[in-house]
Formats: sequence, structure tokens, C-alpha cells
Amino acid sequence: MTAMQHVSLGAHYAVHLPAPDDFAFWRERARGLVQCDVPPDRVSWIEPGGTGDLFASEGPSRGEKRLPPPPADPRAVRASQRFLTVARSAALHSDPARFGLLYRVLWRLQRQPRLMEDKADPEVRRLEELAKSVRRDAHKMHAFVRFREVQEEDATPHFVAWFEPDHHIVRAEAAFFMRRFANMRWSILTPRGSIHWDGEVMREGPPARREDAPQGDPVEALWRSYYASIFNPARLKVGAMLSEMPKKYWKNLPEAELIPQLIAGAQAREAAMVRAGEREERARPASLAEVAQGAAACRDCPIADCGTRAVAGEGAPGAALMIVGEQPGDQEDIAGRPFVGPAGQLLDDHLTRAGIDRQAAYVTNAVKHFKFVWKGKHRLHQSPGAKEIDTCRWWLEAERAIVQPRLVLALGASAARGLLGKTVSITRARGTPMRLDDGTELWVTAHPSYLLRLEGEAREAQARLFASDLAAVKERLGELEEANSRSP
Ligand code: URA
Repeated sequence: MTAMQHVSLGAHYAVHLPAPDDFAFWRERARGLVQCDVPPDRVSWIEPGGTGDLFASEGPSRGEKRLPPPPADPRAVRASQRFLTVARSAALHSDPARFGLLYRVLWRLQRQPRLMEDKADPEVRRLEELAKSVRRDAHKMHAFVRFREVQEEDATPHFVAWFEPDHHIVRAEAAFFMRRFANMRWSILTPRGSIHWDGEVMREGPPARREDAPQGDPVEALWRSYYASIFNPARLKVGAMLSEMPKKYWKNLPEAELIPQLIAGAQAREAAMVRAGEREERARPASLAEVAQGAAACRDCPIADCGTRAVAGEGAPGAALMIVGEQPGDQEDIAGRPFVGPAGQLLDDHLTRAGIDRQAAYVTNAVKHFKFVWKGKHRLHQSPGAKEIDTCRWWLEAERAIVQPRLVLALGASAARGLLGKTVSITRARGTPMRLDDGTELWVTAHPSYLLRLEGEAREAQARLFASDLAAVKERLGELEEANSRSP
């Protein structure tokens, strides 16, 4: 019997997901079902512990067996990049109807390839809402996980945190904590499962109870002083504060005790932070395309009105290496692509010699617009000021959050400032990796246009240093790659 016959006889299929966050499994099954023309109302998606469907098979293995065999000449399944991005997040939502919704939208995409652009479509809207609320939950997990130190028998410090996510985000967020606290031994316990990192290997464990996590120890004092120093009075708007830090998290947060004191001193600082507050409240772009559109429309600093266009970064989300330059030059501004002019050519030569594949990296700039002055018919490059770099940091951070590189390479002082939010000396910073605020490794080197401005022996000496920095980056990338392939 062929798949099509199954359908015409009204067969109903039950797909039992091995885990509530297994997007890859859903994707593979959904592709197969679309290829066999199984309409959404003939499929039930069942999570572990979920109840089956009256008309479908009851047991997991029986349900799987009843899926139709793939057709001999499977057709391509259409799924836009936007759909995949949104679907990956939405699949982690706790709504039991999410996998059915994902399949309905995938099914419709076969006939309406631009469906995801229809923001008025109720199913697209619902999918976007699910994805947004999962992103929010992840953001809260990043912000509100608090480790408490426990001494193990072998006297190695072990940091344990308790967190209550709304959605199935724990496994998906493990990499964030691994990067941020790479050298610590830690566990995050949640009612949806736990993750454990021993400095080398990530393990998963069963759901935990609040009592399983330690409470109250010296690490809290550290968090309290950290929180007081970064306290943002703009968040004092009660509504914003409640939505940013819902009360349900307060009981786990030692710094919540400080809030009354902090409120008292907050008003004076608030005015200066209004603008920053507005930016914080702006929705973070969810894709590189949104970053490109947002940066093109951004008028937060005067450079934006200078050049022809904003030059977006280039490369894939998930690239292990992110290379950050200063700002587009004359040729980049014309071409709309980063590092295509003389500095780009020099960079390309050095990357090739170091064995770094530019195509596999994500290449961008700290500032997205070209700043220049006219000299006759020529546009002369002007370095961006600290304020301009800091303003554009919003976009750089958004790119970094989407790409999630393992290692970031800053070319020159402006790039380093864009990433660190402060000025560092290239001479002092080069050669030794630093950590960005989420734990990502940052390497700093000179800007290739600095080499272009030098001559003779000085240029050769700088070229040797540049080559040796790139060689170190290449080596480190290999190590990180290997560590990553060893973790589950
Ligand atoms: N210099 C940069 O910093 N970036 C470019 O894209 C080109 C030149």
C-alpha cells in the first residue's frame, strides 16, 4: 500500500516525540509526512507523557510503525529560513499544540512559500508569539540563574543553581552557560530537567525539586554587589520591572533584597539613561536579516546619514568565528559588503595564509555606516568616535547573539571597543584571549588598514605580528572545535 492510499483511506498518524524539545526529530518526521502528502488533520504529535489520539495508535512504537513509507521519488520540502528560525524556538514552547501548529504552517508553506511574511495570518502570528515567549524565557534564564557554591568531597568547588523555566529551554540554553562559565564545575537544576558541566563534558539529568538546590552562601554576596553596580534605574518603571523580572523569579534572587535601597538612589541617574532605556526596550532582532533592516533604518547617530547604505555583516548564523572590523570604507559602502576594499584584500591574504576560511566565518563591523569627509571628489575615511561605536554596539550585540560564535576576533581598537564597551590598548590586549560579558572568547589584533598605512620594516614587523595573531586564533579555533565535538 502506498502512502497516498493510506491517506485516501483516512489513516491517522501518531508521531511520538522522544523529548519535548526535540526539534530535529519533529523536523525529520514532518518532512517525511509532507513528502507523503499527509495533511495536518491526519497527524497527532505526542510528547513523552502526553496522551494519544483516539483515532491514532496508542503505543509509541505502534504509532511510529504506522507512518507511511517515503515515496520512491520524494519531492523537495519548502521551508523558508524565517520559518526554520521561528520554528526552532517555537518548538521549545510548553504549549502542547505547538508541534501540530508547526506542521500546519509547514504544510501551508508548500503552497504559499511567502506565508511567513503574512503577519496578519493567525497561525503565523501564533507561531511568532510562541517563539517570542521562548526567547524571553531564555533571556530570563541567562539573567536570573544564580549559582550557589557547594563543596564536593574532593574539595572541588561546585556551583549549583535552581531555575524555573516556563518552556523546554534547558537543553537549548546549555551551550550559553557552558561558554559563560567554561572553567567552572556547575549544575543547573530545573523542574524540566537538569544540566551538569564539569569543565569538559555536559551531562543531562532528570527533573529536580527546589529542595535539591542549595540556598544562601557567600556567592550570593558576590551577586549582590554585582547587581548593585549594574543596577539600571530605567527598569524601575514598575510595569517594565515586573515584565523583565517577574515576581516568580524574585524568590531565587539574592539581589532582590537590595531593590528598596537602589530605588532610593535611582531617580538622579534616570534622566541620563532615558535614551539607553528606550533602546533596551526595543525588540532585539531575531535574525540577521532583521539586523540588516534595522541598521539600515537606524538614525541613532549622525553617521547614519553619511554614506550610501548600512553595510550588514556577512556569513552564517552558527559560524564558529566572528571577525569584527571598524566600519565600512568607501568601497564597502558602494558594494554593500564588508571588507571588499584594500584592507579587505590584505585581510583575505592573511586569513588564507593562516588557514582560516573567510567563507565559514561571520564578518562584520563595529559601526555599520561609512563615516567620511569630502576632499575634492574623494570621500576620506574618518574614524568613528566612541559615542558612535557605543551607539552601534546594539547592532553588533544583536549579531553576536544570533551568530553565537565560539570565538570573536576584533580588528583594531574600534572593533574592540564595540565588543567590550570600553577602550583597550591593542599592544597590550593582543595575543591573550579575553572574555566578553557572556563568556565568549575575544581575541584582539591590529586593523589591516593600520598595516597598509605603514611602510618598509615597520610594515613587515606589524605584518609578522598580525600573522602570528591569526595563527594563534586558528589554533584556538581548532581546540574549541575539538572541545565542542566532545561535548554532547
Ligand atoms: N575597514 C573595516 O574596518 N571594515 C571594512 O568593512 C572595510 C575596511
